[in-house]
Amino acid sequence: MSEYIELYQQITGCTACGLSEGRTNAVPGEGSQDADIMFIGEAPGYYEDRDGRPFIGQAGKLLDEMLAKIGLDRKDVYVTNMVKCRPPKNRDPLLEELSSCAPYLDKQIEIISPRVIVCLGRFSFSKFFPGEAISKARGKPRDWRNIKIYPMYHPAAGLHNPGLKPAIEKDFRNLPALIEQVNQATQTEPAPEQALPKQLSMFE
Ligand code: URA
Repeated sequence: MSEYIELYQQITGCTACGLSEGRTNAVPGEGSQDADIMFIGEAPGYYEDRDGRPFIGQAGKLLDEMLAKIGLDRKDVYVTNMVKCRPPKNRDPLLEELSSCAPYLDKQIEIISPRVIVCLGRFSFSKFFPGEAISKARGKPRDWRNIKIYPMYHPAAGLHNPGLKPAIEKDFRNLPALIEQVNQATQTEPAPEQALPKQLSMFE
């Protein structure tokens, strides 16, 4: 069994926190296991819980529209959430729920190994950069380990507050350039065996 399927099964059978008691389905995530871009939202909502698939409700429609505008499709990317089970009445996930679910996301990041992680909203952003405001950070890529973190407002924020929609659209429009930049940087990086003599030469 692949590591991915094993993880998927662990998530769908998880009872590590109270959210498991109220769920219809856990929502592990979906998309390409080789994706260069991973989108991380907050938590499943009604439709996601019903069908076991991420971002298929209103916010998901907006996400699909934005992806289409930049020529991307769900199957080209990987989409998941901070917590894999729906919080009651769509309340914010609690700290203990976020921390008991975190190892699953960590493992997804390890398996999929994306080059860019798009944080949809403050919960996802705070996994990588705790304590910083998404309103200030949005649209500005950051380095985290060897991954570019690209924070933006959650699409649901654009539905509740249409004033935020232009910012979301702008941040999406800038995503292809970031992906291109990251791909180019990876291509021009010397292979480790080529880099070694250069590093050694500093000590000659
Ligand atoms: N909002 C999220 O953060 N995730 C979903 O899967 C759906 C809505």
